[in-house]
Amino acid sequence: MKVSETILGQAHGKDVVAYTLTNPNGISLTAMTYGATITELMMPDKNGKSENVILAMDSLDDYVKHRPYYGATIGRIAGRIAKGSFDLDGTRHQLIVNEEENQLHGGPAGLDTHVWDAEIEASADEASIHFTTTDADGANGYPGTLSVTVSYTLTAENEWKINYRATTDQPTLFNPTNHVYFNLSGDINKPILQHELQLNSAVFAELGDGNLPTGALLPAEGTPFDFRDGGKLAIAAEQSHPQTQKVAGFDHPFLLQHDTGKPDAVLSDAESGRSVKMYTDQDCVVIFMHNGAIDKYTIAGSPVIQYAGITLETQALPDAINQEGFGDIVLRPGEVYSAETIYKFEVQA
Ligand code: GAL
Repeated sequence: MKVSETILGQAHGKDVVAYTLTNPNGISLTAMTYGATITELMMPDKNGKSENVILAMDSLDDYVKHRPYYGATIGRIAGRIAKGSFDLDGTRHQLIVNEEENQLHGGPAGLDTHVWDAEIEASADEASIHFTTTDADGANGYPGTLSVTVSYTLTAENEWKINYRATTDQPTLFNPTNHVYFNLSGDINKPILQHELQLNSAVFAELGDGNLPTGALLPAEGTPFDFRDGGKLAIAAEQSHPQTQKVAGFDHPFLLQHDTGKPDAVLSDAESGRSVKMYTDQDCVVIFMHNGAIDKYTIAGSPVIQYAGITLETQALPDAINQEGFGDIVLRPGEVYSAETIYKFEVQA
């Protein structure tokens, strides 16, 4: 495995470093210490042409200025917390909100805005970047000093492994994710609607006001949310269901069945021959399709089109702290949070 590094610039008075891990099959992964963010995933297509298959900004300044969440580590809590408020052990906590009355993706100074420390570890079979950061007691309104490690590993088997580890000195909440957007065509000016998704999920969470889960978990059977037998993402853009109409596509949590021996999801693009298989130990995956075009910034000189990429954000269900039966996201002193997600890249001739 090959490892190289470059300094991209500075943020919060610290150097921001990008590391590139390259495996013997011509796959390379670049990630930077700003937000522990993946900024490039180069892989060949069926004709051997190597292209970047994830959404990324042109410069560090663009990430800092526009906070697009592209490829970033999201935390402490991925998704929305209703009114930014919750009860923990009988105490009401009010978080700093950053999307109207709700908190989104960890608040105004979420983990995606930290300049993380990083260490490299490499062998013949794999290379890892171990990102670490400390989130201060009270940051974004959360109790407890949180110590977080996120490791990105690229293997000779064409896998990108993400491992999360966290500890706290006071009871707090933790439900991180990675916000990578895939566009396997290698061309972000081509919408992902012709990508095929296979998803081992029979249940999705209904969205209500402010795109927060209502608490209802709905059966996917007979709806555009059923990808158990595979289907094109175009179905979400047709908006033939009130839930896809609501957000102009998918922006939904899907509960994962975790069938043994099967990936939790497979995303593929027949034209390029590229696919990514997702394996996770998390309860759910939030699928968001970049449902709007963006003109407040450009990438390579062009505004970002609607459906420029698709996220597979593995996590516990959003707003779990305020919803019955959505899982336990409380982290206590003495416990070690740990989670793993693997994206495995393949090319079909
Ligand atoms: C997703 C979220 C979307 C949107 C996006 C960031 O995770 O569900 O509603 O906020 O992040 O642009």
